[in-house]
Amino acid sequence: MSTQLRPTDVKRLNRQWRRRTEGRLALIAESVTQPFNLGSILRTGATFGLDTLWLTGNAIDPTHPQVGKTALGSENKIHWERLRTSNEAIAAAHADGYRVVAIELARDALPLHEAPLDGDICLAVGAEDHGCSPALLAAADAVAYIPQIGRVGSLNVAVATAIAIAETRRREWQAHTAPAETGTVN
Ligand SMILES: C[S@@+](CC[C@H](N)C(=O)[O-])C[C@H]1O[C@@H](n2cnc3c(N)ncnc32)[C@H](O)[C@@H]1O
Repeated sequence: MSTQLRPTDVKRLNRQWRRRTEGRLALIAESVTQPFNLGSILRTGATFGLDTLWLTGNAIDPTHPQVGKTALGSENKIHWERLRTSNEAIAAAHADGYRVVAIELARDALPLHEAPLDGDICLAVGAEDHGCSPALLAAADAVAYIPQIGRVGSLNVAVATAIAIAETRRREWQAHTAPAETGTVN
């Protein structure tokens, strides 16, 4: 019978996956204004080893008191920088060796499972109300969308970020992890 892992087991399991992870991951959050969304993004980012979070436009600050309600302390575990525009953030990501993949329901975007997510990847997500700016979409190296089949316009931005981050890590783990190794806790 399966039972929940104890915190020490989780720490050991996390260490095992950290040793199998080489690709660097960063994120541009453009004008994400709701504290609970940024908090959730920070928690996901800390969980999956986000190296840098660039905040652009009028994105809320991680130090906002309400961000901590969903970040639960992870706001202190992620290196973040604020830049005025997403073009500046994309330039910073390129200078740091990242390929920038915008996550958006956009014309000519690739479905996420076909997106180029190998190597060092900087994902970019957009505002809750109007999504990624045309400038961000134009400057990104690739644009990918998460396929949807329900009668819903889009995902919540924090959920879309979590799906894209998890898919990016999954690609590397699938490429480099032997099937017998998966799920082992020892
Ligand atoms: C709520 S959506 C933006 C709203 C949407 N553009 C609109 O005008 O109705 C916020 C962000 O979540 C991400 N997002 C949500 N659903 C997505 C999907 N199916 N594929 C890719 N990105 C998605 C994008 O980064 C988007 O900019």
